[in-house]
Parts: sequence; structure tokens; C-alpha cells
Amino acid sequence: MAETGQRTPGAEDHARVIQLIFGAMAGQLMGAAVRLRVLDRIGDGERHADDLAAECGTHPQATTRMLRALAGLGLLAETASGAFSATATGALLRTDRPDSKASLVGLFADPAMLRAWEHLDDSVRTGERSFDKVFGTDFFGYLKDHQALSEQFNEAMSQGTRGVAELLPEACDFGRFTTVADVGGGDGTLLAAVLRAYPDVRGIVYDTAEGLAQADPVLDRDGLTGRCALVAGDFFAAAPEGADAHLLKSVLHDWSDEQSAVILGHCRRALPDHGRVLIVEVVLPETADTGYGGLPYLSDLNMLVNLGGRERTRAEFEELCGRSGLAVASVTPLAEGNPYCLIEARPV
Ligand SMILES: C[S@@+](CC[C@H](N)C(=O)[O-])C[C@H]1O[C@@H](n2cnc3c(N)ncnc32)[C@H](O)[C@@H]1O
Repeated sequence: MAETGQRTPGAEDHARVIQLIFGAMAGQLMGAAVRLRVLDRIGDGERHADDLAAECGTHPQATTRMLRALAGLGLLAETASGAFSATATGALLRTDRPDSKASLVGLFADPAMLRAWEHLDDSVRTGERSFDKVFGTDFFGYLKDHQALSEQFNEAMSQGTRGVAELLPEACDFGRFTTVADVGGGDGTLLAAVLRAYPDVRGIVYDTAEGLAQADPVLDRDGLTGRCALVAGDFFAAAPEGADAHLLKSVLHDWSDEQSAVILGHCRRALPDHGRVLIVEVVLPETADTGYGGLPYLSDLNMLVNLGGRERTRAEFEELCGRSGLAVASVTPLAEGNPYCLIEARPV
């Protein structure tokens, strides 16, 4: 049952407000820790703050304060005065782990992701994104002009998608398809997981040249280069030909309904009548809840300010598919405790 707001606020409510507003500082702290490679330097062992400061070229006392703040958030443990080791959560800020979240943290602490948030009230007033007013170009145009950030974005998307990549091959029978195209598939992390699980299926990763820039080594690592083509293109102009399933993960939420309908319409036209569009997105409930710590709604606003996109409910996905000559056949949560759903749509 949702809280009604009628009870008198108690000490916990006061503490929660303060904790929430300090969240912005926690994000900045994590970004600085990644930029200074604090967790990489600590590694599996224990490091003294003074050694770390000498290695990072930072101010010793300020470094201790930063490390203590990381300990306060549960990312480090101060085992003796001035000596720090990583916690299991903090270890995810190391760059050398296959389950690393360092690029994701770095991206979400970058001004490119945060500055438009300073204009959230404008976006709420107008319903329009603020990114372009701040940076003079749209988000993906900005990435195109900033190669290092674009690489970080691709790696961040890959890190964010690995949890889904572990679940999707089991949640969906890809064995029914001959060729699966991952439209806006980035570095191919998700499609590689599907192709590993289904050795008879072929793949196409379709993205912009910048989106595909890190895909070669991902496919190569899994020995998939012979079974998976990389096709550069613009999904507002066309979808790739030759596939009987089009996968779209975390693509439609980047775009408005009108733009999403264009992308889906191209997919529909490129697919045979027995083909399928497989949309993997967070599906919002009809009324707001506190599930997943409210992250789906923060993501929704992130889409608003930075891209002009949105998260959607099932009814909104049905409406969107209907506009594009598709009908939603099923909506399946990928796993308990994971906000992503597989929305399977078929041509009508
Ligand atoms: C939010 S990312 C999602 C990446 C991947 N599907 C995932 O979930 O990790 C959106 C992707 O859309 C790609 N993209 C953006 N504009 C595009 C366009 N006009 N045509 C094709 N791909 C585009 C980006 O390069 C990026 O890889």
C-alpha cells in the first residue's frame, strides 16, 4: 500500500530527506574515486591513505577525508586508522573486473550526463529536453564529437547490460529465429550472449559508426565474428535487412513516441510477416511505486532532460507498437528483482 503522507513526519522522514539530497554529493564522490582510480590502486589489499595520496598526487589530508567518505558510504572499510580496503560493493568501482561498474559510474558523474539536470524545472515546464540548450547539440551528436566520452558511453552501456545479457537467452527462445539483429546494439554485449547460447543463430549488430566502435573485440573474444555482422546505419533511416527478429534494448526509452514509432516502423518493414520485435525495457507500473529505489523514475527524468525520451507503461508500449503495425503478444519480466521486461511484438 502506498504511503498517503497523512502521518506526522518522524525522525526517519527528516533523515531520509537529508539523505536523498546528499545523494548528488555521493555521486560526485564516486565519480572522483573512479577518475583517481582509487579502487584499482587499493586492489585486493589494504592501502594507507598517505601512500594512495602520494601515488595519486593528491593532498594527503583531503585524500584521507575522501577515503573516509567512501567508507561512510560502504564502498571502503577503514580497518585501522588511515588504512583502507575495498568492500564487495566498492570493488565494483575497479576497472579490471568483468563485473565492473566503473565506466557506468564515470559516465553518470560526467558533466555530459549531469549538466542538463540543472535545468530539470525547464524540461518539466516545456516537456522538452535541456541537453541541446546546454551543449548546443543533441546527446548522440555530442558523443560523436567527443571520442573518449563516446568510448566510455559504449563501455558503460555494456556494463549496464551484462545483468540482462545473463538473463535474456533463458527468458526468450531465440532458437526459433535464423538471424537476430540487435538494433542500437552498441558494442554487441547483449547479442554476443544470445549467440553464445544459440549456436545455430546468426546475428547483426546495427548501430552508428560510433556505437559500433568497440564491438570488434567483444565479438572476437567469443569467436563470433564469423556468425555476426556489424552494420553501421541510422535507425531513423532504415532497419537492417535479413533478420527475422529485431532486438531493441534500452533504445526506445531514448526517444519520444514519434521518434520511437519511426524506429519501430522501420523494423516492421524490414521483418518478414512471421518476424518478431523483441523490446527489452523497464516497464513502469500504471501508478508510481517505490520499487527499485525509485530508479525507473529517475531514469525517466534522465531521458527527459538529456534525450527527450521516456520510460513507458505496458499500455504505452502497446500504443506505440500499434502505431507501427505491430501488436504486443507478451510482456515477461526477465527475473524477480530485475526491472527489465521482454516485450514481444508481432507484425499485424
Ligand atoms: C542507450 S544505448 C543502448 C545500447 C544497447 N542496446 C544496450 O542496451 O546496452 C542506445 C544505442 O543507440 C545507438 N544509436 C543512437 N542513435 C542511433 C541512430 N540514429 N541509429 C542507430 N543507432 C543509434 C547508440 O549508439 C547506442 O548504442
